[in-house]
Amino acid sequence: MTVSEFVVFEGIDGSGTSTQIAALKKRLEGKKVFFTCEPTDRETGKFLRKVLKGEIAVAAQTAAYLFAADRCEHVYGKGGIAERCGKKEACICDRYLFSSLAYQSIECGEKLPAKLNEDFPLPQTAFYFRIDPKIALKRIQNRSVVEIYEKLDFLQKTAAAYDKIFAAFDKKNTGMNIIRIDASLDAAEIEKIIWSALQKLPIFES
Ligand code: TMP
Repeated sequence: MTVSEFVVFEGIDGSGTSTQIAALKKRLEGKKVFFTCEPTDRETGKFLRKVLKGEIAVAAQTAAYLFAADRCEHVYGKGGIAERCGKKEACICDRYLFSSLAYQSIECGEKLPAKLNEDFPLPQTAFYFRIDPKIALKRIQNRSVVEIYEKLDFLQKTAAAYDKIFAAFDKKNTGMNIIRIDASLDAAEIEKIIWSALQKLPIFES
């Protein structure tokens, strides 16, 4: 099932999704749009941030369950995506289940993340930011905290997994529109591509 008010941004670390979401937030200022991200800022997400920083070590499988639990709260919890989209509020999310299918598949295989995420609703549009992991890693090199997945070999595998996952969704005819973005382009250019795609959606028509 796809949800027409729901838009997701995906890509490996350093692909620039957060920069684009920040630009969109500015553009849509004053409009009733729910900007959100995963891991969430709920308790489940706060726990995951500690895992990502390496402060808490968990098994790869546990991480897959934790990301799915955080997502479950995000979608079905109070003030979550299902409730808001149900009231025709647009929801724009930085990362969603595709992150689990890509990242968690590297360490625990494809089966577990696929099983844990098979029943979540799909967005109307998924922007998939494609970029060479070497360029992506260079962009995030100066950050003070390096997260557990921010390593070249891991991101290379994750980028390949993302390609595979979205190609499989292309064939599934779910109704989800997958828009691939060349994330090596200039930020202003990417912003134009995204805005022109979003304007076609009834929820963003002015
Ligand atoms: P970000 O906040 O900079 O996007 O970082 C979140 C990190 O969490 C990023 O490395 C991807 C990872 N992640 C997963 O591994 N699985 C998931 O389901 C989600 C939502 C994120």
